Amino acid sequence: MSVALIILGAGKGTRMNSDLPKVLHPIASAPMLVHAMRAGATLDPAHTVIVAGHGAEVVTKAAQAYDPEAKVVLQTEQLGTGHAVSQAADALAGFDGKVIVLYGDTPFVKPETLQAMLDAKADVVVLGFEPQDAGRYGRLVTNGSSLERIVEFKDASPAESEIKLCNSGVICCNSPMLFDLLSQVTNDNASGEYYLTDVIGLARNAGHSATVVTCSEGETLGVNSRAELASADAMYQAAARLTLMEDGVTLVAPDTVYLSLDTVIGRDTIIEPNVVFGPEVTVESGTTIRAFSHLEGCHVSRGSVVGPYARLRPGAELSENVRIGNFVEVKNATIAEGAKVNHLSYIGDASIGERSNIGAGTITCNYDGVLKHRTEIGADVFIGSNTMLVAPVTVGNRAMTGSGSVITSDVESEALAIGRARQVSKPGMAQKLFDMLQSKKAKLKGSS
Ligand code: UD1
Ligand code: CA
Repeated sequence: MSVALIILGAGKGTRMNSDLPKVLHPIASAPMLVHAMRAGATLDPAHTVIVAGHGAEVVTKAAQAYDPEAKVVLQTEQLGTGHAVSQAADALAGFDGKVIVLYGDTPFVKPETLQAMLDAKADVVVLGFEPQDAGRYGRLVTNGSSLERIVEFKDASPAESEIKLCNSGVICCNSPMLFDLLSQVTNDNASGEYYLTDVIGLARNAGHSATVVTCSEGETLGVNSRAELASADAMYQAAARLTLMEDGVTLVAPDTVYLSLDTVIGRDTIIEPNVVFGPEVTVESGTTIRAFSHLEGCHVSRGSVVGPYARLRPGAELSENVRIGNFVEVKNATIAEGAKVNHLSYIGDASIGERSNIGAGTITCNYDGVLKHRTEIGADVFIGSNTMLVAPVTVGNRAMTGSGSVITSDVESEALAIGRARQVSKPGMAQKLFDMLQSKKAKLKGSS
């Protein structure tokens, strides 16, 4: 049975007080919209249609970065959830499977819940939940296992307001049936909007069946403000940390570790306190990420140790048993097995061969103000402390550079390169200098 997703995200999100469309605000480094798309993607949808309003261009970019096949349709005026879903009619013309409607600002719906909705035996299936405080949610009017209609809070009678079972907004229905029902929806209600929720009553009147699948309140959590965004992120982090620990990762101080939606960490890895995992990080088993390190777009292989206070930026590729120490930044660089960059270095646009040792304070000078250039370092190389490697430059296997060198031309294998002024020592000169300076100081004191 093929499935299509419609994800609503045209609402202004006024309370976010932002130029960024609400659905693009991130949780765990990924737009909320992508969280919803990911949950939907587990159903292997034939179509994914996103209904966007303000900022449709940026929404399209973000949606297609995750799924290049996703379509974005425009709802120029926000006339209600029913009107929003109708905007997807053309994109789904000729499609005869089931449609699932999700909200782009409701990021935590679980794949198994969506599957349960697909499996439920009714023409229309609504995802319901019983919140702590039913507040202003739409209420589900049921009769046994049959869902009769949904009444919006604003339109509810006092008796209906007492109903505990609420509408999450997620709905599943055969596509042509859904659009046919939507064409009958009017805006004759307290908000003057076209309610998606009206399709239930219309379906029942036409003799179709409707039912409710339920989930926990956490799954249907919606985000309307920055404070809610922060608490949603905190909820995500708490759950993701627990999953990691169950998967055999040690988090020494779990509450201080920040994870991204796509963070992958192998078993028996130890994560010390205050580590940030930005997007696209994979860490293999048996590694240690020491305190206060910041990683994004990088890969760390088995047995490596990173930090404390290390920064791995996009394109940092660490092989097995690599050491990256304190105050070292690595960007777009491959570090081969057993190599060490232990202290205060910048390694950018570079490759470092097996077992090479990069001395403290080494900098790959990769940028000339206009273009970026590469530094290639072979295996078993020893780079002396405070070496400036002015790229493009190549250092052969088993070569060495003298401490403090500025290396501007290639170093051949097994050579020692020294690029610095020769030291000059002047006997007794220091004592003379001290005497001169002390008498200068005495004169200054006397005159004041
Ligand atoms: C809706 C439901 C309500 C439910 C609640 C759950 C309706 C009529 N009501 O109410 O029963 O309990 O969600 O949170 O469906 N959107 C558009 N275009 C529009 C209007 C909304 O794209 O014209 C999008 C919003 O961006 C949002 C979603 O639809 O993602 C829900 O809209 P919202 O205004 O929050 O609906 P509620 O009034 O909260
Ligand atoms: Ca809402």
